[in-house]
Amino acid sequence: MPKKAIIAQVSDMHINAVAETYRNINVRKNFIDVLQFLKERQIDLLVLSGDLAAADGEIEAYQWIKETLTRFPYPYVVMAGNHDRVAVMKQIFDIPVKDVQDDMLYFSRRVNGHRLLFLDTSTYILPKKQLAWLYQQLHHSDESILLFMHHPPLLCDCLFMDSFYPLGNIAETWELLQQLKVVKHIFCGHYHTDKILKEEGKIIYLTPSTMLQIDTKSNRFVVEHIRPGWRMIEWDGEQVNTQVEYLP
Ligand SMILES: [Fe+2]
Repeated sequence: MPKKAIIAQVSDMHINAVAETYRNINVRKNFIDVLQFLKERQIDLLVLSGDLAAADGEIEAYQWIKETLTRFPYPYVVMAGNHDRVAVMKQIFDIPVKDVQDDMLYFSRRVNGHRLLFLDTSTYILPKKQLAWLYQQLHHSDESILLFMHHPPLLCDCLFMDSFYPLGNIAETWELLQQLKVVKHIFCGHYHTDKILKEEGKIIYLTPSTMLQIDTKSNRFVVEHIRPGWRMIEWDGEQVNTQVEYLP
């Protein structure tokens, strides 16, 4: 019986190019504090699920994150969000060459024998090449996987984000996902909130940001609170146990 995989998902850190606050939030300190908290756990993989950089793939942000993670004792993977630039990320992080194709960062990993797939929606859509890859990876398989993508593949009843920043090709992406029965658990960021949606046999988990959380009930940008959050995931290949945690 393979061991459970313990995964920490940290998202939307929005690290700036220089050490300064944003809306009075010290985003760099938030990330360091979250890592400090996670160091005390036994985790198998840290997933940084996109929007690592503040606005537009700032190289100084990636350099700072990489340097900060040299003091983190567990392995990690980086994903691209809409504020990231894969061409810059691959200069800084130790990303296997095969994980980047056409400047898109999408890949598969095994953690304690369990399979995880990671997509790249940094262009605000899930491009056809990745949809085809996902189908090719999974349509013959009966092994359950965990899927990570920065943008959720559905509207989430979060008024501001649904109205202005949803995934650009939701219908096409959801149609493909429906064909893939082994995709039951989908972990996302981007929406800066903690929410779980259940739709047609799939569960979509929204993970909060380490920067700020967005009020889901407003159709304008309203900050709900600024406690940095992340998600812990325990997975044995069948069952997922997950909860969001916030810094005290
Ligand atoms: Fe985002």
